[in-house]
Amino acid sequence: MNVATTIADVRALRSRLEEPVGLAPTMGYLHEGHLSLVRLARAECASVVASVFVNPTQFAPGEDFTDYPRDLERDLALLEAEGVDLVFAPGADELYAADHTTWIELPTLTGRLEGASRPTHFRGVATIVLKLVNIVAPQVLVLGQKDAQQAVVVGRMLRELDVPVELRIGPTVREEDGLAMSSRNAYLAPDDRTVAAVLYRALRRVEALWRDGERDADALREAISAVLAGEPSADVDYVSVADPESLEELDGTVEAALASIAVRIGRTRLIDNLVLGRSA
Ligand code: PAF
Repeated sequence: MNVATTIADVRALRSRLEEPVGLAPTMGYLHEGHLSLVRLARAECASVVASVFVNPTQFAPGEDFTDYPRDLERDLALLEAEGVDLVFAPGADELYAADHTTWIELPTLTGRLEGASRPTHFRGVATIVLKLVNIVAPQVLVLGQKDAQQAVVVGRMLRELDVPVELRIGPTVREEDGLAMSSRNAYLAPDDRTVAAVLYRALRRVEALWRDGERDADALREAISAVLAGEPSADVDYVSVADPESLEELDGTVEAALASIAVRIGRTRLIDNLVLGRSA
């Protein structure tokens, strides 16, 4: 496995890789969720590139950029064990000049859900993903369903900018109690970790209602909120039942929906989602 820290080295090493190439972009501190994306890339591609970069532009001032967990040595060992061919692990200066001024913005998709609490988050995500795709030039890009809005935003950007890459979305990987794997789970104190299982309980409840034929958007939202209310230390940011593509909040009878939740438990903000009525 080669490890590159500069764009020039990535391009030189990538040109020697067997095609097609799959890219799994990550912010490191890898868990099974990330590794499942690497495996997804491997299943479709002859070569796999992973990036490890805690992207400063997707964190607002006051968010957890400095605290975000990092362990590059461990990440590299995990990626090597997965047979990754090339890792791009740059410093921030390699990707952003001090006077960086070009941003990708998708205002209609990013003003709600995560974007409502994190107004500059998705321009940072869209910009870095496009930069990584331009640098690595993969045929396949893999992202996780856990960050559902990110997947929708990136898919729309790639389509509208005619970027020649296939986007694949890997299913959310969960702990035994259903908590979606996330590098930020490392912030949870033991009591908070127990409470955190409420997100998946709420999603399972709405899934069961959907299976039983409930199609009213308000009823679906209320079912999620009722389960979350059972854990008073889970401070709800939003409960959403939205169109899976436009991300607009739905009313009345729905045919398909993205049910998503953001909850703060202690100092940790957790998100999770489920697609109802179609495969994610
Ligand atoms: O999902 C993530 O870890 C990040 O948002 C990504 C896609 C690697 C961009 O920094």
